[in-house]
Amino acid sequence: MIEVYGHGGDLRTASETFGLPEGEFIDFSANMNPFGPPPGVVRWLAEGEAASLLAHYPDPACRSLRRQLAAKYGVDEACVWIGNGAAELIDLALRVLAPATTLIARPCFVEYEQAAVKAGSRLREYRMPAEEGFALTPGDAFLRAADESDAIVLGHPNNPTGRLPDPELLEAVRARLSPGQTLVLDEAFLDFHEDERRFSWLRRAASDPQVIVLRSMTKFYAVPGIRLGFVVAVPETIERIRALQTPWSVNAFAQRIGELAIGDEAYEANTRGWLREERPWLEERLKEAGLRVCGGGVTNYVLAEIPPRTGWTAAKLQAALGRRGILIRDASRFAGLGSGHIRLAVRLRSDNERLVSALKQTLNG
Ligand SMILES: Cc1ncc(COP(=O)(O)O)c(C=O)c1O
Repeated sequence: MIEVYGHGGDLRTASETFGLPEGEFIDFSANMNPFGPPPGVVRWLAEGEAASLLAHYPDPACRSLRRQLAAKYGVDEACVWIGNGAAELIDLALRVLAPATTLIARPCFVEYEQAAVKAGSRLREYRMPAEEGFALTPGDAFLRAADESDAIVLGHPNNPTGRLPDPELLEAVRARLSPGQTLVLDEAFLDFHEDERRFSWLRRAASDPQVIVLRSMTKFYAVPGIRLGFVVAVPETIERIRALQTPWSVNAFAQRIGELAIGDEAYEANTRGWLREERPWLEERLKEAGLRVCGGGVTNYVLAEIPPRTGWTAAKLQAALGRRGILIRDASRFAGLGSGHIRLAVRLRSDNERLVSALKQTLNG
């Protein structure tokens, strides 16, 4: 198992487990943009200018990056705050809200639960129905649970299903919020979506005190090593998040890399164009290999299930592929999923072909 610390993408554990050097794995267990960081970032690192940042404290308020993000998304700078990855901001948001009860819709990103528990919150869980492909649609049970919760935390889109909650459901949840209740939307993967602007609640969060939107910059710009994310909320909430955050939490390299990354429109268009083609291609090949694909996904990862009749479990398949240098996510570890669920990042075609061929050989061989 490679999820000893709760997540995919842990090459050190993979290396220790499967006996291969870290650099020899093709990693489908973490969901990064397979094009790697934008060229401007790579160039800047190669030019050596980064060294000049070492001897000074970073800007404690990340002013340049916040200004750029505010301009890019059309919100006020006072509504944006930067964090050491979206992971830090999930934690800070829940600590600021200190909700007595937090509602999550399983299966979902494990940090929602962990952050809620750390913030002293009681957890309420709604199970998205497997028979409906884990769709989160307007339904009485979810809305009732939302009515009785102080914070409602949803992946938008969700991890590991890759699906967006039904927009009507979100509207219904928002419309029913009483004072003191907050809807937290984690849009860590929304920038991979071609209609990002249409679906995003980012601008609403800048004017609605009962909505908080979290964004990651590590996935779309393929820079998980530096940790970078941002939150959009009304200025009063941003101020409370700032007050709880450790000073200089976002280092100077992360700030500069964020500034260089977000201006590259060609990189963004190229990434979205690739996913438009590659996701359906991979889904079809996975079905041919005998897997059940969870439909309706919009992200750069696919949730799939190994049929029980094959005799394979996700854990067994992860081990078999890991020994061949291919890392997949054992999604059975997500509460709400079964022993056959796996999650696969969509990568570039040649890697995806290697994955499909290894899957076919392993499952059918
Ligand atoms: C749904 C979701 N939200 C947030 C995060 C955290 O992202 P970051 O790398 O910016 O901390 C992850 C990381 O896997 C994620 O899957």
